[in-house]
Amino acid sequence: MTIRWRLLSASALPEGDDWLGPDEQKVLAGLQFPKRRAEWRLGRFVAKPAVSWIAGIDDFNRIQIIGAEDGAPEAWIDGRRVSSEISISHREGLAACVIAQGTRVGCDLEAVEPRSSRFVKDFFTEQERRAVDTTAGAHRDRHVALTWSAKESALKVLRVGLRRDTRSVEVEIDDVEAVQTGWHTLRATISPEGQTFQGWWRQEGETVLTIVGDQETRSSPTPISGEPGPSLPQRSWPTPLGTKSRETCSPT
Ligand SMILES: CC(C)(COP(=O)(O)OP(=O)(O)OC[C@H]1O[C@@H](n2cnc3c(N)ncnc32)[C@H](O)[C@@H]1OP(=O)(O)O)[C@@H](O)C(=O)NCCC(=O)NCCS
Repeated sequence: MTIRWRLLSASALPEGDDWLGPDEQKVLAGLQFPKRRAEWRLGRFVAKPAVSWIAGIDDFNRIQIIGAEDGAPEAWIDGRRVSSEISISHREGLAACVIAQGTRVGCDLEAVEPRSSRFVKDFFTEQERRAVDTTAGAHRDRHVALTWSAKESALKVLRVGLRRDTRSVEVEIDDVEAVQTGWHTLRATISPEGQTFQGWWRQEGETVLTIVGDQETRSSPTPISGEPGPSLPQRSWPTPLGTKSRETCSPT
């Protein structure tokens, strides 16, 4: 099982759309609102390189990331579904994607910001509320953001999103008060199924990123950077992109 991740800032987005495939262009044409268009484009722009590097295909137009009926993104190359699973999240000018082999996967970005007790009461389980209440003041906002984000990631694994009650996922976050950067672990238990999914979190500035896979083993390998380098071969990289990309992620 391998999970690769990427994080990208909107400042890396080119103006034109010639890097989108024909089906993607059609989807984009149907999106009315500028904010939605911008985040949808950014999601494609963060995901395509990851698929490109894994598949060994440099032509971005041949790789298309299309939302299925349920909304979950799926990668296609020349009209054939790519076997890897992908997930996308966007938030305040950032987009993340994960691409996984051997596991279903979900990822989610959330801002670390004050959220009310009412929010926690409405959407968290009793055990999650207690965990948040016992977190030292300075880390409470992070704990709430992480719990919410991990729920969304798990619900993306299940491909249901917020159609399902967020309290049917109970999240346990490790190292909530961690000061060191990098990945930390979490678990998401799904009720009534009783499965416990393994997950990870990290903080980038004022934003947290969570990743959840459907593997139940605690020894699942930590996500690795989806950038070319030691983990992926350096490929010649097409730049219909026009601009120099400015990824904000650092290798694990
Ligand atoms: C999945 C969901 C929780 C994500 O919401 P969010 O946190 O606001 O947004 P994020 O940026 O983190 O994630 C959005 C991405 O999630 C992915 N996604 C959407 N539905 C998904 C699903 N059912 N399963 C897995 N991933 C999904 C998409 O890739 C989407 O980005 P894209 O449309 O640009 O490709 C939310 O869209 C949802 O609950 N969807 C299902 C219910 C629904 O369709 N509601 C329609 C509006 S009422």
